[in-house]
Amino acid sequence: MQPAHHLVLVGPMGAGKSSLGRRLAQAYALPFVDLDREIEARAGRDIPALFADEGEAGFRARERAALVDVLAGPACVLASGGGAVLADDNRAAMRRHGFVVYLKIDVPEQLRRLADDTSRPLIAGDDREAVLERLAAFRAPLYAETADLVFEPAGLDK
Ligand code: S3P
Repeated sequence: MQPAHHLVLVGPMGAGKSSLGRRLAQAYALPFVDLDREIEARAGRDIPALFADEGEAGFRARERAALVDVLAGPACVLASGGGAVLADDNRAAMRRHGFVVYLKIDVPEQLRRLADDTSRPLIAGDDREAVLERLAAFRAPLYAETADLVFEPAGLDK
C-alpha cells in the first residue's frame, strides 16, 4: 500500500497552524492532528512539564517519534510544532509523506498573538522579542526549504 499523503502545516509559534489546520481538516473531511497535543497525550504531561523534566532535547526526541508515527498513519491534516523543522530527518519525512504549507508570520504579529500565552517554554522569559527574532532568523530558511507552498495568513484567531 502507498503511504498516506498528509497536509502538513509548518511555521513559527502563533502562525495559526492549529486553527487553520482544524479548518482545513474539516473542509477536506480528514482527521486533524496537532503534534504538540499528540506529544502531550503520549507523555501524559504537558509541554512545559516535558521541557522542565527532560529539557529541550527530550522534547525533540518525543516530537520526532510522534511525527514519524503520525506520518506513517492515515492521511490527516497535521499541525506541526514550530521547532519540528529543526531536524533534517523531520524535514525530509514531512516532504516525503506530505504536502507542506509554511504559514508565514512576522515577529511583531507573533508578539501580539502570543501576548497572553504561558504554554510555550521557549518564550517563558522576559526577552520574548529577542528570542523570537533569533528563532526566526535561524528557522525561516528551514520552513522555506521544507515547504511546497508559502502562505501569509491574516486575521486568524489562534
Ligand atoms: C516550539 C513550538 C511549540 C511547541 C514547543 C516548541 C518551538 O509549538 O512545539 O513549545 O520550538 O517553536 P507551536 O508552534 O504550536 O506553538
